[in-house]
Amino acid sequence: MLEIKNLNFKYSKGEFTLVGISLSLKKGEILGVMGPSGSGKTTLVYILSGIIPSFIKGDLSGEIKIFNKRISEISPFKDKITLIMQNPYTQLSGIKSTVFEEIAFPLENKGLEKEKIIQKVNEILKKLEIEHLKNKNVFELSGGETQKVTIATGLVIEPELIIMDEISTLLDFWSTEKIYNIIREYIKKNKKIGIIIENSISHIFEYTDYSLILNNGRQVFWGPTSLLIKERKNLEKWGIEPFLFSSSYKKLKQKILEKIGKWELL
Ligand SMILES: Nc1ncnc2c1ncn2[C@@H]1O[C@H](COP(=O)(O)OP(=O)(O)OP(=O)(O)O)[C@@H](O)[C@H]1O
Ligand SMILES: [Mg+2]
Repeated sequence: MLEIKNLNFKYSKGEFTLVGISLSLKKGEILGVMGPSGSGKTTLVYILSGIIPSFIKGDLSGEIKIFNKRISEISPFKDKITLIMQNPYTQLSGIKSTVFEEIAFPLENKGLEKEKIIQKVNEILKKLEIEHLKNKNVFELSGGETQKVTIATGLVIEPELIIMDEISTLLDFWSTEKIYNIIREYIKKNKKIGIIIENSISHIFEYTDYSLILNNGRQVFWGPTSLLIKERKNLEKWGIEPFLFSSSYKKLKQKILEKIGKWELL
């Protein structure tokens, strides 16, 4: 359970404020967060993942509960909260050289035995279809490959809450679909909670149960994604690019799928 009640925040430096954010999610649910650049999406997930106020200071008020614990009592490491950011390079440990070692690192930190670590890392490499990168140096990967490694590192700990902040920026269309499918399956099967920040409205419509739209730090929409689809005429007003929701997107995707055969993960 994730509950946010009347969250307000202002950075110590600068003018930006988040005002009156309230929402709740149950286990097994996925939230999509959208909003124009600078609307406060990353600020919100910094709060949920503890970066604010641990590393970035400001005035924070309101009530946030994650798994029935107040946010101040949460330890992202112990409570298994994973944040995957847009820029994967800032998320590499910097002390491990191969992909395998990088993904194994959080499990080593948790003190898992070696056999178990090897098994879990191999499983996640297979799931994300990056086994071929296993022995490569993490600093010699492409942007998209690096992003897949950070996603694997985030998933391997079996997080209770997984937050993805525009992870598709460096990924191609099919890789993005594949990863969101894997994450959705993980959340639904294991009753975890997911938060996806995305620019692409089609991904929000396809992969989320609830949607939050921020505009200049204000919550302009919160509710079931199915309701947002009904209210899509408002998207432009809220600063969201509605283009990808055209029915031609679904038709195009259907056509491609028919041509290449049913894709295994869909
Ligand atoms: N450490 C900081 N100190 C002061 N202001 C900040 C800080 N980080 C971000 N801001 C400001 O807060 C506002 C919201 O930024 P945020 O990164 O949350 O937006 P966003 O919705 O994630 O945008 P984008 O889509 O570009 O990633 C911006 O005006 C930004 O300049
Ligand atoms: Mg951001």
